[in-house]
Amino acid sequence: MELNVLKDEYSTCSKCPELVDYRSQVVFGSKHMNKCPVMIIGEAPGKVEDENGEPFVGRSGQILNKFLEEIGLTRDKVFITNTILCRPPENRNPKSDELLHCRERLDKTIEILNPKVIITLGNFATKYLLETKEGITKVRGKVYEKNGRNIVPMAHPAVVLYNGSSEAIMTQFRADFSVVKGLLGN
Ligand code: URA
Repeated sequence: MELNVLKDEYSTCSKCPELVDYRSQVVFGSKHMNKCPVMIIGEAPGKVEDENGEPFVGRSGQILNKFLEEIGLTRDKVFITNTILCRPPENRNPKSDELLHCRERLDKTIEILNPKVIITLGNFATKYLLETKEGITKVRGKVYEKNGRNIVPMAHPAVVLYNGSSEAIMTQFRADFSVVKGLLGN
């Protein structure tokens, strides 16, 4: 299956009634649809993403872009998506049934893209992909092999917004992105 076929399939998804009522559109993933060696999984679309139909195009996205550029990656070289495809009301956390409804889509996306590295951003995507109860501070910046794939968990870029770009946080992100750079052999 091609990624655009999967995208079409989910463009009218109605599995989560509360999200269907609230969303403007389903935010499937990066608009370019290129096959990329790096896949990035965030939490859920926010307001700007819901309006634009693309993940990480708001303030967290600008921070993500900066760290990607530092390791020589541009947005067309990564495929970005989220644990769920629709904006939750008031940006609340995804509910467990919503995560479950969107799981098959995520697994199929990974299978089609067959990325060399998967970056999980924040607790939700990380716990979900690694099937761990460990918090992000404990697991971040290491490489985990799961179903034959390399997963590198990191903090969610929104922490830079909350922490005012503190030196410690920036250093931590740079260290974690350099792990990805190493896996790509760059
Ligand atoms: N935060 C996320 O987790 N995903 C987005 O797409 C935007 C912000």
